[in-house]
Amino acid sequence: MGKAVSVIVPTYNEKDNVARLVERIHTSLSDYDYEVVFIDDNSKDGTADLIQALSGKYPVKVVVRKDKRGLASAVADGISYVSGEFVIVMDADLQHPPEVLPDIFKALKNHEFVMASRYIKGGSPGQWTLSRRIVSLVANLLALPLAFKVKDRVSGFFGFRRASVDAKALNPLGWKIGLEILVRGRFGLVSEVPYTFARRSQGTSKLSKRIIWQYIRQLVKLYSYKFQILDFMIVGGIGYIINIALYSLLTLLPALKTFEFNQLGKPYYLPPFIVSSLVAIISNYLMNRAWTFRGWKERKGGFGRYLLMGLATLLLDMGFLFVLVEYCNFSPVPAAALAIFIVFLVRFIIARSWIWKRTPNK
Ligand code: GDD
Ligand code: MN
Repeated sequence: MGKAVSVIVPTYNEKDNVARLVERIHTSLSDYDYEVVFIDDNSKDGTADLIQALSGKYPVKVVVRKDKRGLASAVADGISYVSGEFVIVMDADLQHPPEVLPDIFKALKNHEFVMASRYIKGGSPGQWTLSRRIVSLVANLLALPLAFKVKDRVSGFFGFRRASVDAKALNPLGWKIGLEILVRGRFGLVSEVPYTFARRSQGTSKLSKRIIWQYIRQLVKLYSYKFQILDFMIVGGIGYIINIALYSLLTLLPALKTFEFNQLGKPYYLPPFIVSSLVAIISNYLMNRAWTFRGWKERKGGFGRYLLMGLATLLLDMGFLFVLVEYCNFSPVPAAALAIFIVFLVRFIIARSWIWKRTPNK
């Protein structure tokens, strides 16, 4: 039987903190069926032995990694060693007060991800040097579009429902594993509970320039993951220009005008739209394949599917075009512009779910 809640604590040289940490966690979670799993990267100060000694008295265990180092990867690996329905991640150095654990656990009853937050009412970053404060604020701001519902996006103190996270899909670079899990997990409701970042009393912080650089690389990956729609939109934008340019050319061409097809009492404007859209669909397919969905698997008959989607949504497009011109007094070119935009989202959803498929580890 799994525990109700598992606490994952990454450690690197924290021997002077772990005993007090375990005691305080035990006091906070004594009403619950919990476990603490330490992921230690072969600390040189005997942290692991100390935890081992504590395991006789408390529900704690330690996993020692000899071949890897890194806070985020320690947490990501830790997920496969725990059994709880809910998982809470915290630091070992008591900067994350264990007394907040029950608040997180309670919030997890009706939320799938809970961030312990320094930037909501009741929370605080505590006594930090000005430079550290600025680094944290900038880091937090840079992640705003990735998780705008959360105020503290760079907190290392958070909880989640284990079943909502696929640990293999995580890219554990650097430190911000909370953000990584929040962006890549499948979470419905997300919330925050306040905490005050305590002073580190023993040992030293392991934050370095290299970690900051890794954060930038992580952000690039997360943005491209979360906002694939931006890539799709840029491709769509290029196709859109192709479409409108061709459409204007075809409708304005004097030779075509003299044909004077009289469709529903108006001059010829629908057939050129089919031609321009078809050209745009094909160029969009090629660009999406090479860029937006690179690394994804194309389903069988991908081009046929894309064409079919393009044509089906073109009908929808034409329906809008028709309504806008006939009933809303639009002239054809702006009407086409608006119509194409309206079906953009529909196409994106179909492309991601019916034409390309995410491959694991991507
Ligand atoms: N296993 C393992 N491997 N643990 C590590 C490693 C590592 O390479 N590096 C650090 N840790 C552990 C530490 O032992 C500690 O328990 C925790 O990760 C946080 O490390 P600190 O060195 O205390 O980090 P900090 O206090 O500067 O940063 C904290 O606050 C930031 C928010 O401003 C961390 O919680 C960050 O994740 C957080 O973003
Ligand atoms: Mn710390």
